Amino acid sequence: MDQNGALDSLFQEERVFRPLPQLVIEANVNPQELEAYRRQAAQDPLAYWEEAADELDWFKKWDQVLDESNPPFYRWFPGGRCNIVYNALDRHIETANKNKLALIWEGEPGDNRKYTYYELYRAVNRFAGALRSLGVAKGDRVALYMPSLPETVIAMLASAKIGAVHTLVFAGFSPKALRERLRDSGARLLVTADGFYRNGQVIQLKPLVDEALAGAEAERVDSVVVVRRTKVDVEMQDGRDFWYDDLVRNERNEAPTEVMEAGDPLFLLHTSGATGRPKGILHSHGGYMVGVHRTLTHVFDIKPTDIFWCTADPGWITGHTAVVYGPLLAGTTTVLYEGHPNYPQADRLWHIVDKYGVTIFYTVPTMIRMLMRFGVQYPRRHDLSTLRLLGTVGEPIGPEPWMWFYKNIGRSECPLLDTWWQTETGMFMLAPLPISLLKPGSVTKPLPGVEADVVDRDGNSLPSGKGGFLVIRRPWPAMAAGILGDEERFRREYYEAIPGGAYFAGDVAKKDEDGFFWIQGRADDVLNIAGHRVGTAELEAAFGSHPAVCEAAVVGVPDAIKGEAAKAFLVLNPGFQGSTDLIQDLKRHVRGELGPVAAIKGIEFRETLPRTRSGKIMRRVLKARELNVDPGDLTMLDQE
Ligand code: WTA
Repeated sequence: MDQNGALDSLFQEERVFRPLPQLVIEANVNPQELEAYRRQAAQDPLAYWEEAADELDWFKKWDQVLDESNPPFYRWFPGGRCNIVYNALDRHIETANKNKLALIWEGEPGDNRKYTYYELYRAVNRFAGALRSLGVAKGDRVALYMPSLPETVIAMLASAKIGAVHTLVFAGFSPKALRERLRDSGARLLVTADGFYRNGQVIQLKPLVDEALAGAEAERVDSVVVVRRTKVDVEMQDGRDFWYDDLVRNERNEAPTEVMEAGDPLFLLHTSGATGRPKGILHSHGGYMVGVHRTLTHVFDIKPTDIFWCTADPGWITGHTAVVYGPLLAGTTTVLYEGHPNYPQADRLWHIVDKYGVTIFYTVPTMIRMLMRFGVQYPRRHDLSTLRLLGTVGEPIGPEPWMWFYKNIGRSECPLLDTWWQTETGMFMLAPLPISLLKPGSVTKPLPGVEADVVDRDGNSLPSGKGGFLVIRRPWPAMAAGILGDEERFRREYYEAIPGGAYFAGDVAKKDEDGFFWIQGRADDVLNIAGHRVGTAELEAAFGSHPAVCEAAVVGVPDAIKGEAAKAFLVLNPGFQGSTDLIQDLKRHVRGELGPVAAIKGIEFRETLPRTRSGKIMRRVLKARELNVDPGDLTMLDQE
């Protein structure tokens, strides 16, 4: 993997990175305080989280910190009343944050828009009023199929403000995938845009929405709000489609912030699982805001002058937590960029860092691997001296990209914080703080209040050095409240896969002798393509819907840029011959079924697929052949 000898030896020599003394002096949480938090949280986790909850504003305090009477359906802060938007927005209007920038948005063509907290508050009020006049009420679901625009943030906050539940569908999903998610969520209203700019092109979005809503299947969606971004011609359906600008123009009044029970749902977000259809993960106002606020302010050491940039799309959990809610709860300035990282050249991200004086830069390893390829001349063109912290999420980061990022972007000074968490965890779970010792490739240790372990198939704790399954032993505030409409699946997949009642994350990990955790990848049939979760079951179903395909098995294979890529093994129906034309057609077909997120790297035709006696396809065997290893080496992947 690491062919680069020089970097490799550097990595070997300096296995542990220490923060600069100045950084330790200035940190919000110093090493002694972190230890004290850890001790307190270990002794009395509920007191620890109660203190974290006290840092936020509540309309009414909770009766109890945690109700554990019905595991795994834990209820945080029952009896408490709050609204995350009150904490992310309303309360800042009463402080010096009022005129501070909340959001800096940069469009791909180079245009930009900036919102102070007050301006964002006003915009959210107007759109909240518009949603109300369209009949959206507390508990209704509002779907967003949006590019990265300020209106995406506004619509999320406006929905939450009036007690509606937002559900974002990443704009890289196909109309079919959108339709499936709309059906599952039961959304009545959909917010979208005419299109957006990507890699110098206008990408139209509204026609995809029209396609998704065609037919009777999505009849529940009775209104579509369209943000005008590109000014391309779009067809508007009378009575159903409304321009965003027309709706907000006449909204002058403040829309009251709905008083929510702590456990009331805030958002629904679909993610891929090992089997079956994507699952709608539910998060609620109270626990999510407490967990996200505490962990984001600790890990990223938020200071009043920070400019925080997480490059994720709002359509994923990383966008929810680290672009929208986390930074706004912390009262910092968040940056959102619409376009492609290489447009017009491979220095666009560094240009943005330079232009706005970004201080904290948080991204996925895939991005680093890609930018690394273009070379250091691109970052060197810009003044990156404002950066003080770097972060990564979403996939394991190998030592080579770690060193490249640390040296060339972070001047060998900025701590590189590798954060492990998931759609289901809502908040950061295992991560260093800026004052922590770092080992490249390790997510270091669980945050205070998070009890993680590595166990074998029977739930027994494993000694250091031995690979096993990552589990979380105690509930944490931002944990998912469940899977929409499928309590059983929630219990089965997360709490019963490993005996002992701990939360099973789906990842393989190991601990080293210093108690540092090393995440090795997924334990189940979920691929991690460029930091995005894609289930092999969804890919196989997409292949299976092509007339030529009789059977399909998909496995993940290593990819130099994306970390992992999908490779398909197909058995064809009688009368079909494998050919390059068919391969092209199959790739197009799968893209049409799932959208550009489902890029297929390779397709191989087979007479048969290896199966267990019970008839289950042995992906492990296919994968082992592909990687040229003994199938026994991959027993972790066997979910029989
Ligand atoms: C993987 C993204 C290694 C992991 C926030 C997890 C990671 C899945 C890391 C969740 C990390 C996330 N190192 N792997 N720092 N962070 N993962 O739900 O496999 O999109 O289970 O949430 O990404 O992906 P999700």
